[in-house]
Amino acid sequence: MLRVEVQKPVARVILDRPGVHNAFDDELIVFLKDAFRELCTHPDVRAIILRANGKSFCAGADLNWMKRVAEYSREQNLEDARSMARMFLAIARCPKPVIARVHGAALGGGAGLVAACDIAVAMESAQFGFTEVKLGIIPAVISPFVIARIGSRAREYFLTGERFPASVALQLGLVQHVAADEAALDALIETKIAQLVTSSPSAVAAAKELFFATAEKNLESSLEIAVDAIARARASEDGQAGMKAFLLREKPPWIPQ
Ligand code: COA
Repeated sequence: MLRVEVQKPVARVILDRPGVHNAFDDELIVFLKDAFRELCTHPDVRAIILRANGKSFCAGADLNWMKRVAEYSREQNLEDARSMARMFLAIARCPKPVIARVHGAALGGGAGLVAACDIAVAMESAQFGFTEVKLGIIPAVISPFVIARIGSRAREYFLTGERFPASVALQLGLVQHVAADEAALDALIETKIAQLVTSSPSAVAAAKELFFATAEKNLESSLEIAVDAIARARASEDGQAGMKAFLLREKPPWIPQ
């Protein structure tokens, strides 16, 4: 489900649910959060690479799990959404630099993971999208991270739910670098790591903290609003119908005939 490999000075956190394109459920969410919290304090780790096994980086939230949550009480539903928020926070606020290595699909929460990292590099062939509205739900917990990255341009992509290529992700600033193939992608990451290891670890941590204390000072309160919004959306009629339709490979009811 999740693998962590530490090879001084780098740690690799590897999403490993290839059968569902690394979609994350409640269990993977906790593993990811714990992995980042542990790596935060690892003295030998100077940079973390978030990457994935299989065809895709991450197909977002596991829709089987999201659908199931509708049976929870409102309090359980909120707590479940808060757990997801804590996972994104653990990545974004990790005092070590975090690099997303993106290939294949990075959709919904998968695109959110990209936005939560400090640096994102993608294969030219990677595909992005904030596809939640296609499923009757909304890009909620990821929204503070995505908006911090791409600003008001998120509005168009949050509403259309369209899928877009790495060239557009680059133009939006969702990713900072694009490579033609895996070798070029890894070479790019190596270049970044070579820079990062010559930066003071405590200064890097302080710079990240300062970023969140200034530019992103409302992150926690935005997340609480987002938690409430996703708890309502996934229990809603359209949310339930949309997720069910995806899993059954059917058209959701709002598609014009
Ligand atoms: N949650 C749960 N299962 C998912 C999933 C998700 N987010 N994304 C993919 N899967 C599952 C599929 O249901 C399928 O399961 P099955 O083999 O039991 O039928 C399996 O992963 C393979 O997916 P499939 O669609 O057949 O593969 P593909 O290569 O044609 O397409 C994707 C891959 C990722 C592009 C496509 O699955 C997709 O668009 N997923 C939805 C992503 C999304 O909108 N995420 C936002 C969630 S909020």
